[in-house]
Amino acid sequence: MISRAIQPRARVALLGCGNVGGEVARRLTEDSARLGLELVRVLVRDPARRRPVGPDLLTDRFDEVVASAPDIVIELLGGLAPAAEYVESLLEIGVHVVTANKTLVAHRAGALAAAAEASGATLAYEASVCAGVPVLAALRQLEGDRVRAVRGIVNGSCNYILCRMEESGLTLGEALREAAGRGLVEPDPSADISGRDSAEKLCVLARAAGLGDLTPADVDRTGIESITPGDIRSAARASRVVRLLAEVEAAGDGPRARVGPVLLPRTHPLASVRREENGVFVEADLAGELFFRGRGAGPGPTASAILGDLVRILGGAAPPRAVQPRRACGPEVPRRHAIRVTAATAMAPRGVLETIRESGLVAEEVEVSTNSATVVARASTRGTALACAAALPGERLVLPIVE
Ligand SMILES: NC(=O)c1ccc[n+]([C@@H]2O[C@H](COP(=O)([O-])OP(=O)(O)OC[C@H]3O[C@@H](n4cnc5c(N)ncnc54)[C@H](OP(=O)(O)O)[C@@H]3O)[C@@H](O)[C@H]2O)c1
Repeated sequence: MISRAIQPRARVALLGCGNVGGEVARRLTEDSARLGLELVRVLVRDPARRRPVGPDLLTDRFDEVVASAPDIVIELLGGLAPAAEYVESLLEIGVHVVTANKTLVAHRAGALAAAAEASGATLAYEASVCAGVPVLAALRQLEGDRVRAVRGIVNGSCNYILCRMEESGLTLGEALREAAGRGLVEPDPSADISGRDSAEKLCVLARAAGLGDLTPADVDRTGIESITPGDIRSAARASRVVRLLAEVEAAGDGPRARVGPVLLPRTHPLASVRREENGVFVEADLAGELFFRGRGAGPGPTASAILGDLVRILGGAAPPRAVQPRRACGPEVPRRHAIRVTAATAMAPRGVLETIRESGLVAEEVEVSTNSATVVARASTRGTALACAAALPGERLVLPIVE
């Protein structure tokens, strides 16, 4: 007799097993027991190629995916055709869909939401903007608030190019070639450089922020094609940086959405978004200003967002994480410490340095004033730094330095 206590596992199918799909397939296989699911089918163009899943799971026929009766399908094909048709037909028959495809969501969000609503299925797409940075989840959390504006650097390739032009005086073409050499741009980089990719992501953000149901045609868009090293230098002279910004804000009779290069003060949080990172700045009535930043592309961060959506759909709540049982900590990672002694007059600077050396520490920087001395010591455990401070006279303060 089969015990009724055994819950059936959720059946998950993958559309696509490329950069992102391959990583997701690996994680699903490794973590299937914890997540309570089973990978039942994987759609690819070429089933003969080696993949991180067994050949028995691979197919090039979408009807075979449907016939495998999945509860959830993860779409990682990219683009509109055939992804839009497949996703819509799955939602219509009540299959939940998780996707990383911003083109699909930006162009078809309305039709897909309607199909999902009619059947009671869920469509989730956290990975479609900023990959592993949970910015859509944050906007969902702000549903009770009113979001005024969302501004972001959402295309890591353009940000890399602009940062390299700034750092090394490269031309756009040189920086683009360097980015391509590091695998940061598509074989055809025009979607990135023209701002089209950012405009699609902006539509997804605008929708999640409750600012409007936009399509890319509603976005006023300029690319970075005409930015020269002279523009970057002139911005730098005024303590500014050039960045490709996607911004949407509530305006009188509807949202105003724009993608284009802008000048940002060096001190602006978005100016600190370096190279291929992404960063999003949100302004909300009650929460105020919020800033999110991190790796906005790559198989790992994208898979993280996809698995988060999957878990949410599977349970409504996450299954228990593999929480480590309480046990002794691992070895401490040594840090540099600044040790300040006040009323150090009782001991000459030379005496302070001697005590530091006797404690087994190496002084890297020393600053002595009338009644205090501060020594920055080479990396040590906190215990060593505290023992050293205890051997010094007067009031002591020990501050670990976070590098
Ligand atoms: N790469 C990233 O860092 C990143 C970050 C965020 C979001 N995304 C999004 O994630 C999605 C996937 O990106 P990716 O980089 O993983 O793409 P990819 O490496 O090109 O993989 C695409 C996969 O889809 C399959 N495929 C494409 N068209 C097909 C068709 N008509 N029928 C059957 N299979 C088909 C391909 O099969 P074959 O392998 O047989 O060719 C391949 O396995 C895209 O929407 C992308 O925008 C990617």
